[in-house]
Amino acid sequence: MKRGQFSSRLAFILAASGSAVGLGNIWGFPSKAAENGGGAFLLMYLFLAFLLAYPALMAELTLGRHGRSNMVSTLDSITSGLVQKRLGQLTGIMGVITATMILCFYSIIAGWMMAHTLASIMQTLKMYKIAEWLVTFSLWRNICFSTAFISLTLLVISAGVEKGIEIWSKRLMPCMLLLLLGLIVYVLLQPGAEEGLKIFLVPDFTQLADPQLILSALGQAFFSLSLGVGTMLIYGSYIRSDENLPVAGALVTVSDTGVAVLAGMLIIPALFAAQQLGVDIYTETGRLISGPDLIFHALPALFEGMGEAEALVAIAFFTLMSIAALTSSISMFEVPVSWAIETQKMSRLKASIAVGVFTILISGIISYKFTSIFEIVVVATTEWAQPILSLMLCLFCGWLMHRNHLLDELKQGVPDLESGLFWRIWPTYVKIFCPLLIVIILVQSFLPFS
Ligand code: PFF
Repeated sequence: MKRGQFSSRLAFILAASGSAVGLGNIWGFPSKAAENGGGAFLLMYLFLAFLLAYPALMAELTLGRHGRSNMVSTLDSITSGLVQKRLGQLTGIMGVITATMILCFYSIIAGWMMAHTLASIMQTLKMYKIAEWLVTFSLWRNICFSTAFISLTLLVISAGVEKGIEIWSKRLMPCMLLLLLGLIVYVLLQPGAEEGLKIFLVPDFTQLADPQLILSALGQAFFSLSLGVGTMLIYGSYIRSDENLPVAGALVTVSDTGVAVLAGMLIIPALFAAQQLGVDIYTETGRLISGPDLIFHALPALFEGMGEAEALVAIAFFTLMSIAALTSSISMFEVPVSWAIETQKMSRLKASIAVGVFTILISGIISYKFTSIFEIVVVATTEWAQPILSLMLCLFCGWLMHRNHLLDELKQGVPDLESGLFWRIWPTYVKIFCPLLIVIILVQSFLPFS
């Protein structure tokens, strides 16, 4: 069967940035920055994104393009000997499971965004009862909208790499950027916004050594670049052989961190603008509010105070969130689908339906037991599985993939690779420095004083 391929560098950059830029950037990053000292968190995040996440991203892209297959088959094909092969398969399967579980909880949150978009439209049509149902937390609302969101993702993925992932990334990413920029300009013109901008951009250096801040920034960097679970590996397997991987990876990292910074310039100033309207933006412990309160109470309160523009701004904001979530979920969905196509010999349509039905069921269970399961799934997949799997991928790339194969793979797109800085630093970096740093940060989070 012929495998799909991105038609150009731009197509890959848009698809991979679409995966990277998601709720993690627009909601997660500003929330964590608000919780962990604003500018100090931003600095640590930028540091970790370029020093740790970019090299790890390169490991995934290189493995993917070399293996030209899903995560399980790729890790199997680069290893030799029974133990190594089993380890490769196990890591691959854990990646497929983690990507699917992330999709399950992500689709619930994405469903809230779609419900709020629709609620803002209903408000303008004066259908207040429906709007009220849409913004009120309930089992059925959550199930309906996560199912709708997964079905939308299924439609894109079932159309394939070029006609699904590529076309929709090309359509949705520019819309998202325009919405984001438009909203930033609007919010920065509101009274109070300037103070928020200062808090976000000026670092408080005393907080930089806080272990909680470092762990939080690490988790955010891995989640944001969609690392560890095979999304970047599978997108890497769809890149053309003559593409310059280090440059393509760098562009994806820059666009992902760029959008996170832009989102911070939207959300934190918006919080302070909401404060001017009487909204309480601090928790009882004196920290800036984050989490659902930030997105579903403080910001809507700000929109309400905007008079005529209210509905339009609210619709734009929640549409932005929904689009960001969709381009990310597309990449998560592709991980189990590509595995099912390539190892279980299913057709793309059948594999997409099977994965869709399975994720609808699991996200239904998470919705049903929301208070007891949701948080556990989020922490287990994003704070533990993602960094550990990323560590494994660095080890596979650095220790188990033959150095000559690594060189040959990268040289296809960069003939003079050996004479450049990247080749002098990156292989050792991915072999030793990245795994060590991930272990140190993870172990440190276990320590009693952290
Ligand atoms: N990077 C996405 C975000 O920032 O929202 C989340 C994500 C996408 C995580 C794809 C994992 C993944 F496989």
